[in-house]
Amino acid sequence: MLETHVEMTVFEAILARRCVRSYTAQAVSLNAIHILLEAAVHAPTALHEEPWAFAIIRDKQLLKDISDRAKPLFVQELQRTGRAPGRFTEPNFDIFYGASTLVLICSKQTGHFVAADCWLAAENLMLAACAMELGSCVIGAALTALNTPNIKVKLNIPEEFSIIVPIILGYPSGDTPPSPRRKPLILTLTS
Ligand SMILES: Cc1cc2nc3c(=O)[nH]c(=O)nc-3n(C[C@H](O)[C@H](O)[C@H](O)COP(=O)(O)O)c2cc1C
Repeated sequence: MLETHVEMTVFEAILARRCVRSYTAQAVSLNAIHILLEAAVHAPTALHEEPWAFAIIRDKQLLKDISDRAKPLFVQELQRTGRAPGRFTEPNFDIFYGASTLVLICSKQTGHFVAADCWLAAENLMLAACAMELGSCVIGAALTALNTPNIKVKLNIPEEFSIIVPIILGYPSGDTPPSPRRKPLILTLTS
């Protein structure tokens, strides 16, 4: 089924996944995208509601427009929480790091577990991407801009849908070292 994939166990994929922030110009094929969406919709889903819907953006100019719109909005968010703007004030900074594809996981439902379902779908998609030698990264910095009416219209996303998870995809340029994790904080481990 996979056009290109690496033989790896689920645990190996979990350890191999990284947020990739540098991409080649190689496009992600539609076939690969359909495989990744199939992986996404096999995530657990509360009450079996399958609340997700997907938007896939591969138009370079559209990606640039979203990045340009997102940066000042995200700087405001950073300032509200007393954080430095970092690279988000740089005119040439692309919040999508040159990735060729942006996948949006959306929902028009508002139930208690909708966000959980969409994030679980996101992790399925990113692990499957890793096994297909694709890089991925969640781009939370784009979320406010993506949910503005103007951008939703540009993306043909009906207004009743919210964008919950933006994920970039592409072929990694170079290696990304693993980012360290603390040991699990175990509060209780009963016999
Ligand atoms: C909700 C969420 C939002 C994120 N937003 C961004 C973002 O806007 N830009 C970015 O470069 N990375 C973003 N990341 C990626 C994290 O920075 C990354 O997962 C973390 O540094 C750990 O690195 P790793 O995923 O390679 O293990 C986001 C991750 C999550 C879960």
